[in-house]
Amino acid sequence: MSIQTTHDTPLGKKVTVHTLRERKAAKEKITALTAYDYPTARLVDEAGIDVLLVGDSLANVVLGYDTTLAVTLEDMLFCTRAVRRGAKRSLIVGDMPFGSYHTGLEAALTAAVRFVKEGGAEAVKLEGGRKRAPLIERLVDNEIPVMGHIGLTPQSVHKMGGYKVQGKTVETAKQLLEDAVMLEKAGAFALVLEGVPGEIARMITERIEIPTIGIGAGAQCDGQILVLADALGLNFGHVPRFVREYANLKTTISDALKAYAADVRSGAFPSQEETYSLPGEVAAKLKKSGVGFTS
Ligand code: KIV
Repeated sequence: MSIQTTHDTPLGKKVTVHTLRERKAAKEKITALTAYDYPTARLVDEAGIDVLLVGDSLANVVLGYDTTLAVTLEDMLFCTRAVRRGAKRSLIVGDMPFGSYHTGLEAALTAAVRFVKEGGAEAVKLEGGRKRAPLIERLVDNEIPVMGHIGLTPQSVHKMGGYKVQGKTVETAKQLLEDAVMLEKAGAFALVLEGVPGEIARMITERIEIPTIGIGAGAQCDGQILVLADALGLNFGHVPRFVREYANLKTTISDALKAYAADVRSGAFPSQEETYSLPGEVAAKLKKSGVGFTS
């Protein structure tokens, strides 16, 4: 009798936080993407992507907000549950939204527990440098793996004065390096490096043992993440220079919708094959009784 463990999935060995560390040690790149619902989670998972982040970029690319600040914990949990249902192999990381970890350690722990218990997340991500170290320790102490996120942290948009590449001066570069070391010490299992010069990302990657996952941080990180809507060409907002579009779904979807509308208007849809028919004898009886038949 074979015993099914959480490490065996129909898509291969389950990715855990330990897998990512092993990848770094083996110098194998880590793949990561965001997803926000059941179909995108299924596609990302079935494509063999290691990490599936239910990102608070949901605010921008799904909910149409200008920043990530408005998205709520309930929004994030709603999407995390859908993603959980769609993914089997990928590591699911829930992104803690603005406000859910800023008002105190207890409130943050409660929110993180909800990601795991109600959302089915296997880890959480939160933004910020050294000042997050006590919180990371607290969550890890309570069995919740934490992914850090430093550099351009979108939840600090007002403090940063816009979405600006970080770590471009000697002082700020040093701060980023120190932050990375402190978050590793606090127990983070991986670090997202967003919007930092490639040289700084390389230095951090070489300096710490936990994997770095880059977004706009050059090729020397241990892995890469993109926002799914950016990677698929389905973003209606600003597309940053570091994005590579692997498809143009905006055009594909728009063409399909126009074709549908044209078919409906012309009567080409639905066809006879796309229409249910009555059984012959029922049609004959109805016709005989004169119900609803004009010819
Ligand atoms: O919310 C998100 O999509 C993110 C990634 C950009 C890392 O935090």
